[in-house]
Amino acid sequence: MSLLFSPYTLPSPRGGLPLANRIVIAPMCQYSAVNGEAGDWHLAHWTSLLNSGAGLLTLEATAVTPEGRITPDCLGLWDERTEHTLGNTLQRARQLAPPMPVCIQLSHAGRKASSAAPWQGGQLLTPAQGGWQPVGPSALPQLPAEAPPTALTQTEMAEIRDAFVAAAQRAQRIGIDAIELHAAHGYLLHQFLSPLANQRDDAYGGSLANRMRFPLEVFAAVRQVFDGPVGVRLSAIDWVEGGLDVAQTAEFSRQLKALGCDFIHVSTAGVSPLQKITLGPGYQVPFAREIRQACGLPTTAVGLITQANQAEDILQAGDADLIAIARVLLYKPRWPWEAAAELGGQVQASAQYWRCLPREAQSIFGNVKIGQR
Ligand SMILES: Cc1cc2nc3c(=O)[nH]c(=O)nc-3n(C[C@H](O)[C@H](O)[C@H](O)COP(=O)(O)O)c2cc1C
Repeated sequence: MSLLFSPYTLPSPRGGLPLANRIVIAPMCQYSAVNGEAGDWHLAHWTSLLNSGAGLLTLEATAVTPEGRITPDCLGLWDERTEHTLGNTLQRARQLAPPMPVCIQLSHAGRKASSAAPWQGGQLLTPAQGGWQPVGPSALPQLPAEAPPTALTQTEMAEIRDAFVAAAQRAQRIGIDAIELHAAHGYLLHQFLSPLANQRDDAYGGSLANRMRFPLEVFAAVRQVFDGPVGVRLSAIDWVEGGLDVAQTAEFSRQLKALGCDFIHVSTAGVSPLQKITLGPGYQVPFAREIRQACGLPTTAVGLITQANQAEDILQAGDADLIAIARVLLYKPRWPWEAAAELGGQVQASAQYWRCLPREAQSIFGNVKIGQR
């Protein structure tokens, strides 16, 4: 019996969210929005991902304010206009695919905001180049040669917290099923957590308790207004001496659990150019295992998980509850179909594609499920 293809229910205080299988589509920025609004690219991209057979689609990092975008082309959910376009585009994509729950990753880029898209170099943009002045916990730039961000006042932090809340309410209105707060990869909430980016001398800097305070306040406020599961993506370690380590993120996860967090998505890195990452297949899985053991929350593993058996083994070993896949799904958008065929699972597919299987296989699989044995 495949665990990867067994159903899973993400808990939430107001009713769980059933997933058909344990494959999560990881959030992937598309840098293809116009003034924060989703467009035709998103329609095509989301339709493809919704037809992938995964159990949960996570929409890309979505900015809660215009200044919280990584690039001028990032998706947003900060006003009626962005809410309407995102909701409408998602609804159209959902009409073109079998049902799949949708999670949105809500984000503020902090000092990494106002950057060019990766394919345009990724460097910070000045206002003359279409950028804006980034903010952060402290006036410390990501790269030494960059202009520093403006250190946030506590009033401005409260405004950002309220923007996360407003975006969560908008997400609920447009039928999003779950929220993932982006506290990983060197963006604002991670910047507060990491001593490498946070050198504040008020109640939000210094000790771990102080560095966790703002991310926990944002989480608690979002948890209050959203009915479905609310989880957090974190960078378990910074891969830098003196940076965030797994003991600290385990404590953060325990605090999140106490506030009603429903799942943890364990990634790493992103806050410092000094990071020395040991890359390899499933290289972040040991951190998922440690965080899962420490807090007992449903845990998602991610990072170079590319084979069906590899994903299955991670679940069978109890290292994680869910498997997130990013790059492979761009390269092979039906990866879950192949994984289902390999592991004896089933996936839902649109009727138009049922004839993709060889004739003899169709008689075994029938016309409703792909990959049934
Ligand atoms: C094109 C692209 C965009 C990404 N955008 C995001 C994002 O919006 N939010 C995020 O947390 N991670 C983002 N990531 C990281 C992925 O979610 C994932 O953690 C990473 O690619 C490792 O998983 P993989 O080995 O399955 O690709 C992005 C990765 C790629 C390749």
